[in-house]
Amino acid sequence: MPDQLKTQGLLDIESLPREAIEEILERARFFQPGPGETYKRLEALKGKTVVNLFFEASTRTRVSFEIAERRLGADTISIAAQGSSVSKGESLVDTLNTLVAMRPHAVVMRHAASGAPQFLSRHLTIPIVNAGDGTHEHPTQALLDARTILDHRPSLAGLRVAIIGDIAHSRVARSNVHLLAKFGADIILCGPPALLPPELAQLAPGVKLSWNMRDALAGADVIMMLRVQLERQYESAMSAGEYFRFYGLRPEHIELASPDVIVMHPGPINRGRELSSEVADSQRSVILNQVENGVAVRMAVLERVLG
Ligand code: CP
Repeated sequence: MPDQLKTQGLLDIESLPREAIEEILERARFFQPGPGETYKRLEALKGKTVVNLFFEASTRTRVSFEIAERRLGADTISIAAQGSSVSKGESLVDTLNTLVAMRPHAVVMRHAASGAPQFLSRHLTIPIVNAGDGTHEHPTQALLDARTILDHRPSLAGLRVAIIGDIAHSRVARSNVHLLAKFGADIILCGPPALLPPELAQLAPGVKLSWNMRDALAGADVIMMLRVQLERQYESAMSAGEYFRFYGLRPEHIELASPDVIVMHPGPINRGRELSSEVADSQRSVILNQVENGVAVRMAVLERVLG
């Protein structure tokens, strides 16, 4: 069977076999720096060129891919849509064909359209690593989230994971549901009715939905908060204050969860909307661990795709 990661790249978590996920997570552990250290410098991708093409804003994903590529010895070029000929009307396919004509070995791509990397992978001869496509998937985010959970728990199986917030627009939620379900976690999705479409219960077997934050938090081992994606909504039904009142994570909520619960958020965080500063900066928060693991996981993914 062809190696999907080497031929197509990493397009999503849904089609990625559990064994490939385990392999990436284990390799990422090797790349994690020890206390006071930085990431290992290797030559695994020496002579390879990676183009990072971001059609949407990013801080964590773009910078961590760049660091990962450089730490593996690759040559990297980063392009933002605003500064490219996309702003002059060039189509996505023409932009990608133009870049591929310069013979890079892989493209890392973020795009606002769900399915854009899957569509392009059918036309290109080099692998694509999906850095987030619309509301569809953000596969490296789910991998780094799993790595972060496994830094605090021995296994994903049987963990109660509450994913709370703007589920409707969240590619992070979708990728995490696919990954966590493959490993037997117990998943509950929670948010206001307008941001929690009932069909999301079909994403994976056993996924539960709730509009009630207190119910979702009861006994949770992992709380994953999500940003309200105002850029993907034509109107926001709730003000920041109202949203925070019903779905903002505050210290009193932590009491409802498991005593050693961890609080996650893919970032960027909006303090006072989806979580309070007390929680974001508390001992329970692993938000900066997630950022740190982003580099290690992306090193593991790039090495697996291109090494
Ligand atoms: N988590 C995440 O994708 O963050 P950025 O948008 O900053 O890359």
